[in-house]
Amino acid sequence: MATSVTLSTGASMPIVGLGTWKASRGQVAEAVREAILAGYRHIDGAFFYQNEDEVGVGIHAMIEQGVVRREDLFVVSKLWCTFHVKSLVRGACEKTLSDLKLDYLDLYLIHFPMGFQPGDNPFPVGDDGQAIADESSFLETWEAMEELVDAGLVKAIGVSNFNHEQIEAILNKPDLKHKPVNNQIECHPYLTQEKLIDFCQSKGISVTAYSPLGSPERPWAKPDEPSLLEDPEIKAIAEKLSKTTAQILIRFHIQRNVAVIPKSSNPQRIKENFQVLDFELSEEDMKTILGFNRNWRGFPMDWANKHKDFPLNAEY
Ligand code: A2P
Repeated sequence: MATSVTLSTGASMPIVGLGTWKASRGQVAEAVREAILAGYRHIDGAFFYQNEDEVGVGIHAMIEQGVVRREDLFVVSKLWCTFHVKSLVRGACEKTLSDLKLDYLDLYLIHFPMGFQPGDNPFPVGDDGQAIADESSFLETWEAMEELVDAGLVKAIGVSNFNHEQIEAILNKPDLKHKPVNNQIECHPYLTQEKLIDFCQSKGISVTAYSPLGSPERPWAKPDEPSLLEDPEIKAIAEKLSKTTAQILIRFHIQRNVAVIPKSSNPQRIKENFQVLDFELSEEDMKTILGFNRNWRGFPMDWANKHKDFPLNAEY
């Protein structure tokens, strides 16, 4: 069973990565160290998570101790929405590189297709409660992303939270220089994303699943929303295979050739979440889990659902 996903550049992206959204300052450097010691080689971060400097501390501790070399790691970051204007993209990437204390990223993604008003406030909100849009188009942002590859700041570029029409728009762009290699999207048994994953994979675009455990820490969670980690049917499959529910939720993606980035700051759970490469879900279990789809989103992005580039109005 593959332990990595091959990108269209030929590079290998380790199939299980450490997620760092909501990984608290003061804890995340240790989480990165624990993850690398447990065998993780893929670390997923973003400017917006406000912890990239500490992620960098964890990475460098492991390099300095000789546990890994930089080239053994696959480090991902994301361009935040207030930096979509073409002239702001390079500076945003350089800020991330300087926080991480790295001289290149393995993969840099446009975090959302929606650009927000540039400025110090990462989340400018208008009177209507909606994020304030900028004038940018993600097609222009893409051109600035391409320049980062040419300048050697990043090895590959991709997108996150893009629907298939938005990806198609990039692929059809005249003079496209570098294709997106990855789309990072919310994906789990309640949101199986079959059409979007098929579309991406048919175009040679790899997929990474975020929120594989349902992101119980999302601040807008409501008590009546479904919980993947508590789902009795997923628990039953876990019990049958003597695995944890989290391990089933993570393994599900690996068997679809989808990379997966569970977040944990707890050393024991970090290890548990990586112990998913030595067992298989049967075809029947995979089908059963796909059947749990209910198109439920933990990230409905309703703070920008009037934006011209809001991605969730399209069917997929
Ligand atoms: P913690 O960091 O305390 O381990 P997602 O990756 O879907 O965003 O989910 C992350 C959330 O799931 C975090 O709250 C994390 O808490 C929790 N979590 C991570 N791994 C496990 C696990 N193996 N079992 C239960 N909860 C987990």
